[in-house]
Amino acid sequence: MSDIVGDIKARLNIEDVVAQYVRLKPSGRNLKGLCPFHQEKTPSFMVSPEKQIAYCFGCHKGGDMINFIEEVEGVEFKDAITILADKAGIDMAQYTLSEPKHSTSEKSDLYAMHESAASFYEDMLWKTEKGEKVLAYLRNRGLNDETIRTFHFGLAPDSFDKTHLYLVKQGYSRKHIVLSGIAISKNTQGDSVYDRFRARLMIPIYDTVGRMVGFGGRALKKDDQPKYLNSPDSPIYRKSDVLYGYNFAKDSVKKEDSIILVEGYFDVIMSHQTGVKNVAATSGTALTPQQVKLIKRFTKNMIFSFDTDKAGIEAAKRGFELAQHEEMNVRVLHNMAAKDPADFIKDNPDQWSTIINNSIPFMQFCIDEVVSSHNNSSLQGKKKILAELNPFFQILSSSFEKDYFVRELAQKLDIKEVVIYDELKKKKGHRTYTQSDNQKKPDTATKKIGTLDLLLTLIIEYPALLEKEFAAIPEKMLEENEKSIYNAVKDNYNLLRAEGKRKEFLACLNDEIQQRVEMISLFVDEVYGNYNEHMLQEEAQKLLDKIIKRLLNRQKRTLSARIREAEKNGDTSTAKELLVKLQQLMSS
Ligand code: CTP
Ligand code: MN
Repeated sequence: MSDIVGDIKARLNIEDVVAQYVRLKPSGRNLKGLCPFHQEKTPSFMVSPEKQIAYCFGCHKGGDMINFIEEVEGVEFKDAITILADKAGIDMAQYTLSEPKHSTSEKSDLYAMHESAASFYEDMLWKTEKGEKVLAYLRNRGLNDETIRTFHFGLAPDSFDKTHLYLVKQGYSRKHIVLSGIAISKNTQGDSVYDRFRARLMIPIYDTVGRMVGFGGRALKKDDQPKYLNSPDSPIYRKSDVLYGYNFAKDSVKKEDSIILVEGYFDVIMSHQTGVKNVAATSGTALTPQQVKLIKRFTKNMIFSFDTDKAGIEAAKRGFELAQHEEMNVRVLHNMAAKDPADFIKDNPDQWSTIINNSIPFMQFCIDEVVSSHNNSSLQGKKKILAELNPFFQILSSSFEKDYFVRELAQKLDIKEVVIYDELKKKKGHRTYTQSDNQKKPDTATKKIGTLDLLLTLIIEYPALLEKEFAAIPEKMLEENEKSIYNAVKDNYNLLRAEGKRKEFLACLNDEIQQRVEMISLFVDEVYGNYNEHMLQEEAQKLLDKIIKRLLNRQKRTLSARIREAEKNGDTSTAKELLVKLQQLMSS
């Protein structure tokens, strides 16, 4: 189960998870909303996209996305995981079957095996008679030899054993060859295998850092099915995480600050050949959240090129929705007089960049398409247009854009904007959170902020400023169980003071404490964010006074209890001794 938490967190953002229950508004670096855990009129529920933590400063509930779901749905850890895995599109089954761990050496063996197979396939393409014909096919499709070599095209022999026998000869085990997907096992022992790819044009697939992780094998005859046979998922290849061509595109994506997303291998390759390199393919499936996250590291601007059939638009809509969650911009290519970019580029290589420069916002495209497919002067037509566009408007997260496109549509339909807004409101069907769902709540996420932890977090945020205050914390009066953050700060003060080392410091803490510190620092950001140095020191001093007072009171209470105990046992000398101590404490 341990891995699944990491996988869920890698795929989901807490702000998206929370947004399904709470209407969030930006507030500085964070988001703010009405707390779902208690009744309130002014928002005190904060979500930090940076820290991936949500916390209510009114009722002191919160934590990471798992704590949030536990609390809001009133479920235990395991059920919270199930709910989140579902949202993330993760198949739980693969985790419960205790998955065999794949060692680094096993993985590097698999990478090397792909390289080896690819050069075997390349030899088949460049050095055989059959290869000659395939080269002719490729050249006929508009690819030049340099491109064919750059992308390491190859040819799988028309044989059930040549490829894997070659790999066995290179020293790879049958078990690994099957694991890679290059061969298929006939029986469960895996000792009898046959080649997956036969008589196919082989296109190597790379991961984001450029390691070869799989193959796409294109049929060479019309009636060979399927048209593309791809490597299955393996320890080094997860389809949903990979974008074909991204490894070649990265630098250009950064430079151009945009990425063109196409459907197929050939679209990517032909685009490269014309010099447009910021392009990658979803390989015929819908864009996944992981792919969007990958892109977001380098750019916020995506340009879709998709089939304008129903399935294509549906896939684009899903991609648009993902992009909205990540606050990314989506434009689309249009007016391209060809089936796909590969075909277009083959006939008009010089016009490809013009097509890209003429891309339009996704919403604009949808409005144009839908309006032109109905009679926009009849009442019936207008209704239909609005109904069809409604789901797209619902996805829009920016009110600026909503405003812009509502105006646009109002003009096209010659109706008032308010009519559109009314329609949009009617069909919203927002999921709302009801307080009564939340009767039995586990208190795993209920952690109040103690004064000591608050002061320590303030010190973690401003280590140089609050050095004296840290030194003044009466360490001796602290009990072991309340010293976890204190000890961490003490052990790492130098690291903390060194500029920008907050992250490294946090990494030294165990997960639970780390999360706690992040949570409290969210509070610190919110409450003390605009304090100047003087005010911060004053606040730290106040907290320190409060802590010391409380610790003294605690000592007094324990001393008094021990004195009573001693008196009860007739141990007068101990009682006297303790009394002196207590008197000292009282006068301090
Ligand atoms: N695809 C796939 N499996 C299939 C069909 C398609 O994985 N059975 C993926 C491939 O990545 C392919 C992309 O979807 O490149 C687009 O498919 P399609 O439009 O059918 O093929 P084209 O790219 O046009 O193929 P080609 O240009 O080689 O005819
Ligand atoms: Mn094509």
